[in-house]
Amino acid sequence: MSELDPTPADTGRPRLPRSVGLTALGVAVARAQESLRRDRLFDDPYARAFVDAVGAEAVSSMRTFGSYIALRTALFDDYLLAAARAGLGQVVLLAAGLDTRALRLDWPAGTTVFELDLPEVLEFKEAVLGRATAPAGSTRTVVPADLREDWAPALTAAGFRPEAPTAWLAEGLLPYLTSADNDLLVERVGALSAPTSRLAVEHVNPTTTYKGDVSGFRKMQSSIGAQWRSTQPDPPGWLAGHGWRALDAPTMDELHLRYGRGAELSERTGTGAGGLVISERGA
Ligand SMILES: C[S@@+](CC[C@H](N)C(=O)[O-])C[C@H]1O[C@@H](n2cnc3c(N)ncnc32)[C@H](O)[C@@H]1O
Repeated sequence: MSELDPTPADTGRPRLPRSVGLTALGVAVARAQESLRRDRLFDDPYARAFVDAVGAEAVSSMRTFGSYIALRTALFDDYLLAAARAGLGQVVLLAAGLDTRALRLDWPAGTTVFELDLPEVLEFKEAVLGRATAPAGSTRTVVPADLREDWAPALTAAGFRPEAPTAWLAEGLLPYLTSADNDLLVERVGALSAPTSRLAVEHVNPTTTYKGDVSGFRKMQSSIGAQWRSTQPDPPGWLAGHGWRALDAPTMDELHLRYGRGAELSERTGTGAGGLVISERGA
């Protein structure tokens, strides 16, 4: 059995997702590591549960930009909570992967968090989470969907209301889709977005340079067949073209300073804006 064999026949462990779905586990590894730090930016106990469910050996070859993922998680935690507290009662996590914000953030009463991802990823997730529930007064709803398809009917069937303002998040997803798929995705999001809705995305800026050694990450990507399919040189401009006005688009350096990690090696630096953008639906 290879280290990332998705079908550990006789282990009794939940079946691992394949290919791009497996990248969610890499993010969980990074979140579990961050949660162990004394100066952690968040505590995600479920991240450890995902790693434990598959066994440390199975994730030993997963490579991610660990400190970057911690910063990106903190930024989007803050974005989503602020949006919910400002009255956006629906949160939609596009490609939620093993994100457990629905369970671990202190949502205002009445918030509904929708999680969309590929069916096999959500099956794995539910098998590990078991009966974990969202904080009292909030709701977590899982919606299996391929985000290259028209997922709107599945989301509305699950209780999503297009007339109510929504905080959307596409974190760790866009590089794995083609530019054409991303255009379609963001158009579909727009069509479902009432005024004052917000959208946060992460994309990879092709001007990004890497200070650290990323060969292990690239090798891991190609070994599981989950290469990036697109980059975006101007994420705020791209969003503006689809009707979203950028509110915040920190560079990697700004992000490190904002969260008190200025002293650490920035794994990614960019000559332009970073790939992280928080935006609001234009009038
Ligand atoms: C790097 S993970 C990020 C997961 C999560 N957003 C996070 O930050 O922890 C990428 C996720 O995108 C999902 N994904 C990729 N292509 C997808 C598609 N066509 N439809 C739905 N989900 C997809 C994968 O299943 C995986 O969970």
